[in-house]
Amino acid sequence: MTVDSEPQLSDPSDGGPHSTPLLELRKVSKHFGGVRALHEVDLTVHPGEVVALVGDNGAGKSTLVKLVSGVERPDTGEIRVRGQHARLDSPRAAAEAGIRTIFQDLSLCDNLDAVQNLFLGQERHGPVWSGRRVRRHVMEEQARRVLESLSVKLRSLNTPVVALSGGQRQGIAICRALISDPAVVILDEPTAALGVSQRGEVLDLIGRLREQGRGVVVISHDMRDVRQIADRVVVLRLGTRVAEYRRGGYTPSELVSAMTGAHEPSDD
Ligand SMILES: Nc1ncnc2c1ncn2[C@@H]1O[C@H](COP(=O)(O)OP(=O)(O)OP(=O)(O)O)[C@@H](O)[C@H]1O
Ligand SMILES: [Mg+2]
Repeated sequence: MTVDSEPQLSDPSDGGPHSTPLLELRKVSKHFGGVRALHEVDLTVHPGEVVALVGDNGAGKSTLVKLVSGVERPDTGEIRVRGQHARLDSPRAAAEAGIRTIFQDLSLCDNLDAVQNLFLGQERHGPVWSGRRVRRHVMEEQARRVLESLSVKLRSLNTPVVALSGGQRQGIAICRALISDPAVVILDEPTAALGVSQRGEVLDLIGRLREQGRGVVVISHDMRDVRQIADRVVVLRLGTRVAEYRRGGYTPSELVSAMTGAHEPSDD
C-alpha cells in the first residue's frame, strides 16, 4: 500500500465512537506569508478518545494546536466544538469553549509550589469583607482532589515545583488544565525529555483523561508513545493530512513512511 494513493481516512460508520465529536476541524487552512502551514486539514476528537498527531518537523502540528488554542486563527475552514461552530479568537475563548492546552514548556513557575501553580491566575479569593484574601485552604483541598483524580503523587503541596521530577511537573501542568474541567485536553510533546518511568507515569495520566471521558490530542515524536496510548493516529506531512490509522491498524514502518513520504521497505 502506498499511503499517498490510499489514505486510511476514518469512516464514521466504521465502529468508532458514534457520539458528537467534542472537537472537529473541517478543511482548515493556514498560511504564514508564503508558507502553507496547513492545507484543508480535517480532524475529529470524540469523548474518551486519544488522538495522536504526528508528522515530521514543519508538518504543521504546532500550527494546528495554535488554531484550536485560540493563539492563531485559520484562514479558511471551520472549527466546531460539540457540533457547534466555534470562534476561537483568543486563548480565553478556547478555554471557555472547553479546550485546554499544555504547551511543551509547561509554563510552571519554578519558585511557586504545586497549589500556587495549579491556581495561577485563577486563585480562589475570600469575600470582599475579608479583604478578598486568597483562600489557601480552599485551593489546597481542590488541589488534592484534582491531583488525586489523576493519581499524581506529591510528597508535599508546599515544595517549590523546581524540586519535582519531570513527570510530576507534567502532572501539575495537566492538573492545572483540569481545574476548569475542560472537555478537550491537548498535550504538546508531553513525554519529551522524560526518563522511562516518568514517561510511563505521563502515559498513565493520559489514560486517565480518556477514562474521564475527555477528548485528548497528543503531539508526539515518540512512536512508542503513539503505539501505546493513541486510539487513532493522524499523520500530517507538509501541512496536509496524509493518513489516519486506528489503534493496531498500522505498523511502525507504515507510520514512518506516511510521515516522511518515503516508500515502505519491501522486506517489511
Ligand atoms: N509564525 C510563523 N511564521 C512563519 N512561518 C511559520 C510560523 N509558524 C509556523 N510556520 C511554518 O509553518 C510550517 C509548519 O510549522 P509547525 O511549527 O506547525 O510545524 P510542526 O509540525 O509543529 O514542526 P516541529 O515538529 O518542528 O515542531 C513550517 O514550515 C513553519 O516554518
Ligand atoms: Mg511544533
